Parts: sequence; C-alpha cells; structure tokens
Amino acid sequence: MKKILAVQGSPRGERSHSRRLVEAFLQAYAAEQGDTQLLRREVGRADLPHISEAWIAAAFHPQPDQRPLAMQADLALSDELVDELFAADRLVISAPMYNFGIPSGLKAWVDQIVRIGRTFDFTPDDPESQYKPRVLGKKALIVTTRGDRGYGSGGVNAHLNHADVYLRAVLGLIGIIDVTVIAVENDEFGGLAFEASFRAAESALAELAARF
Ligand SMILES: Cc1cc2nc3c(=O)[nH]c(=O)nc-3n(C[C@H](O)[C@H](O)[C@H](O)COP(=O)(O)O)c2cc1C
Repeated sequence: MKKILAVQGSPRGERSHSRRLVEAFLQAYAAEQGDTQLLRREVGRADLPHISEAWIAAAFHPQPDQRPLAMQADLALSDELVDELFAADRLVISAPMYNFGIPSGLKAWVDQIVRIGRTFDFTPDDPESQYKPRVLGKKALIVTTRGDRGYGSGGVNAHLNHADVYLRAVLGLIGIIDVTVIAVENDEFGGLAFEASFRAAESALAELAARF
C-alpha cells in the first residue's frame, strides 16, 4: 500500500486552482492505484509557526540525544512533520506563486522539515559531499499556479521563478530528487489562455495518476 502525503499550500479554499487540482489528482490517484493511504497536512490555511531562536538552538544542539525536555518541546511540531514525511511514499504539494516565491505558510513548513540530523546531515569535512540527504526513495509532485506567464524553463519570466524551482532545490537537499512539476499560468488574465493552461494541467495530472 502506498502512502501519499498531501501538503496544501494555498491560503485560498475552493477558489484555489492548485488546491482543486491536487484534490482531483488525489481522487484519480486512489482510483488508479487502489490500496492507498492519504495523509493530509494543511499549511496554507493553518498558522504554522516560523522557526525561532529556541528552535534553532534545539535543532543544532551538539548532542541531539541529550536535548533537555524544553528543547524537545521546541522541536515537537517539527518532529511530527518530519515523521509524516518519512511515513509517506509520495509527496504532493500545492504551491501558488506568491511574489515570485511560495506562500509563507508553505515556507514555514519547509523550514520545519529541512532539519539537520533528521532529514539531512551536514559533513563539512567530506570533500565529496558536504550534504547527505536522509529522505530517500520518495517521489514528489508540485502543482504550482501563477498569475502571469512565462515562468517555465526558457520562458520570459523564468529568471523570476523562485517557487517550484526553490521547492525542487530544498527537496533535493533532503533526498527527494524524483520531482514532477505541473504548472498553471495566466490566472491574472483569465479567459482562454488560463482555460487552456488549466485543462493542460488537468490532463497531465490525470495521466500521472497511473504512474506516480
Ligand atoms: C499575495 C499574492 C502574490 C502573488 N504573486 C504573484 C507573482 O509573483 N507572480 C505571479 O505570476 N502571480 C502571483 N500571484 C498570483 C497567484 O500566483 C495566482 O492567483 C495563483 O492562481 C494562486 O494560486 P491558487 O489559485 O492555488 O490560490 C500572486 C497572488 C497573491 C495573492
């Protein structure tokens, strides 16, 4: 049985295109793959805490197994989110583009799950690789939506895209390198341009559901 973790990043509810596309994908995925388990983590409409000075001190404690109880408490939510990630075989993220990046709730989630000693190791003396990922053998899907157009590779606004490109980078740091990105553009313009982009994403997601 495959376990799929859905991280919804849009602050919008039913009006969110990325959220609706992810919901449709999850339905298609369950229908295609049969025995699946869905785990959900809302981050767009939840108040996930930013990391704090106390969080940093706890996460970077030189002897993690000696952390005092107060420090363990500072990392409790992060531990929960990391455990969720490890429990999943597949990760699906809805990620609207906000100010060329991602919404702050989704960024807060990223900061909680990119954890030294848990999701990656830092080995500065290793000349081969200073970063060792720990989250191995998983696939991710990023469904991203944008108001403007041309943010894809080779597009006129590609240099401004710090949304899915950024997510791909941080997922790679922790070991998730098999990442599919499906994007919808033109939300600000609407009309046929948006319709065509949305329909293309729907088709791509329906096709992906069988092999993800
Ligand atoms: C605060 C905010 C910032 C945005 N910044 C950008 C941006 O930098 N570039 C862009 O193309 N669209 C931008 N948009 C448009 C959204 O990416 C677009 O409406 C998208 O469909 C939102 O995702 P959702 O439909 O899943 O909620 C922004 C929208 C909001 C509300």
